[in-house]
Amino acid sequence: MSTPEGQKLEVPARDRCVFVCQNTSCLRHNSQQVLKTFIAETENVVGVNIKASGCLGQCSTGPTVRVSPDEIWYYRVQPHNVPTIVKQHFQGNEAVDDMLNPRIHPRFY
Ligand code: FES
Repeated sequence: MSTPEGQKLEVPARDRCVFVCQNTSCLRHNSQQVLKTFIAETENVVGVNIKASGCLGQCSTGPTVRVSPDEIWYYRVQPHNVPTIVKQHFQGNEAVDDMLNPRIHPRFY
């Protein structure tokens, strides 16, 4: 699956779920703090549910974050990236292109 760069996402008909991997490999790269930051940054954002997740199968490029129902996958997410994802994706409905997992969202040149 891919997302054309810079293209607006359709606003989901139902709430977004944000799965933040809390398995071993991602935990080694700060995913617990990523989860806490998502929870804090979305406290007043309507229609976004943050969930701790088991392994999402992208261990070598974690911390991994999957957003449903958009099916957008972010990689190497760190706490300082979270405000951008919240503002641009969850509030602006535009995926953060340079954080898209390239194995799931291949770029075509
Ligand atoms: S440990 Fe996070 S994707 Fe596998």
